[in-house]
Amino acid sequence: MKKLLKGGTLIDPGKIKREQLDVLIEEDKIAFIAPQIAVDDAEIIDVSGAIVTPGLIDIHVHLREPGREDKETIESGTKAALAGGFTAVACMPNTNPVNDNQSVIQFILTKAAAADQARVYPIGNISQGSKGEELCEIGELVSYGAVAISDDGRPVMNAELMRRALEYSKMFDIPVIEHAEDLNLAGKGVINEGYMSTILGLPSQPGIAEDIIVDRDIRLAHYTSSHIHIAHISRRESLDIVRQAKARGIRVTCEVTPHHLTLTEDCLKTFDTNYKMNPPLRTGEDVEALIEGLVDGTIDAIASDHAPHTVQEKDVEFTLAPFGIIGLETSLPVLLTDLVESGKVTFETLIERFTTGAARVLHLSRPALEKGKIADITVIAPDFEYVINPAEFYSKSRNTPYGEKKVKGCAVMTLVNGKVLYQHPTWQPG
Ligand code: DOR
Repeated sequence: MKKLLKGGTLIDPGKIKREQLDVLIEEDKIAFIAPQIAVDDAEIIDVSGAIVTPGLIDIHVHLREPGREDKETIESGTKAALAGGFTAVACMPNTNPVNDNQSVIQFILTKAAAADQARVYPIGNISQGSKGEELCEIGELVSYGAVAISDDGRPVMNAELMRRALEYSKMFDIPVIEHAEDLNLAGKGVINEGYMSTILGLPSQPGIAEDIIVDRDIRLAHYTSSHIHIAHISRRESLDIVRQAKARGIRVTCEVTPHHLTLTEDCLKTFDTNYKMNPPLRTGEDVEALIEGLVDGTIDAIASDHAPHTVQEKDVEFTLAPFGIIGLETSLPVLLTDLVESGKVTFETLIERFTTGAARVLHLSRPALEKGKIADITVIAPDFEYVINPAEFYSKSRNTPYGEKKVKGCAVMTLVNGKVLYQHPTWQPG
């Protein structure tokens, strides 16, 4: 049956600027967009008071399957994605086994199809076993469905290997995604090197560990005329390097996480391991610079780096806990609250970085609210206020620093292929 999204305000980055329009969906596609559509043979879905956008894409998540299904599965992770407003996610290859061959990609895509929730775009490894020694069969990974390659969780320390990865990636028109961290400089550091690490006496990693790899990779991307994408950028300095490279026309993009946009190393005073992630939380100055970069377009996309871990693993001494926090169900509400509601970033910019910007990074077709396009749609209630309760997450894990945070705005309906796959349990239109 046809569906009619009625009474919503549409925002489609660069195309539709806050217009009250109805959206008619037929099968899996958008059939018609106009004010006040009247049809008899459609299910009417009242979305008045809400904003209708193209489906949000999270280009950096860890779904943990295969290998750590106690933390997350493809099914639980893609349900969490829908609840967070994401119609698609790109999953990192640091599973067990890692995603360095076609059988793991096929496994992921089979599981994703069976789950039938958010779309899943697999990211293959750069190096075999993620060991940073020998290149994967990149053509094979791409032919089975990899949209990008990365050894995320680890950097590619060998510059020659990175050069080859970039050269191959160009042949297959995919980006190479770098976890930018010089391992020798970072050592066993668990937090940012600086005032806080001195006060707290925790082992630290200097920010230049990030800058140096960002700089090296940009030079390699320039040399090979290939596309390098910097994952979870977290520093004023590394962002400046990206900004300058973009100005010179080098093919570099970057993403930022919601936590690097909203939290600083000061949070670590609590020694709460839900503030432990890699890259670590940085300074207030870095946060300001990242927000500036988000606004001026130096940062192309926002990505959660959703990294589920069990309570048993996280509830230990700070130095022993694994890096990472979950983010699929908190990214949008936290950013709508801390950046949009506070007036630092416009709603439109935020949505652009979650949709068009994200698609640009992965060379995907532009998500759009347009006749004939696949109906992947997110409906957002900007005024819906609630308190984040991790016990209610669809994710199997609970490792978030945002529990008990009061937020304003969240996804209330998520459609993939024209099907309503998530609906908020209490939100009412109007
Ligand atoms: O905090 C992080 N967690 N950073 C990474 O790079 C990897 C991730 C994970 O897989 O847990």
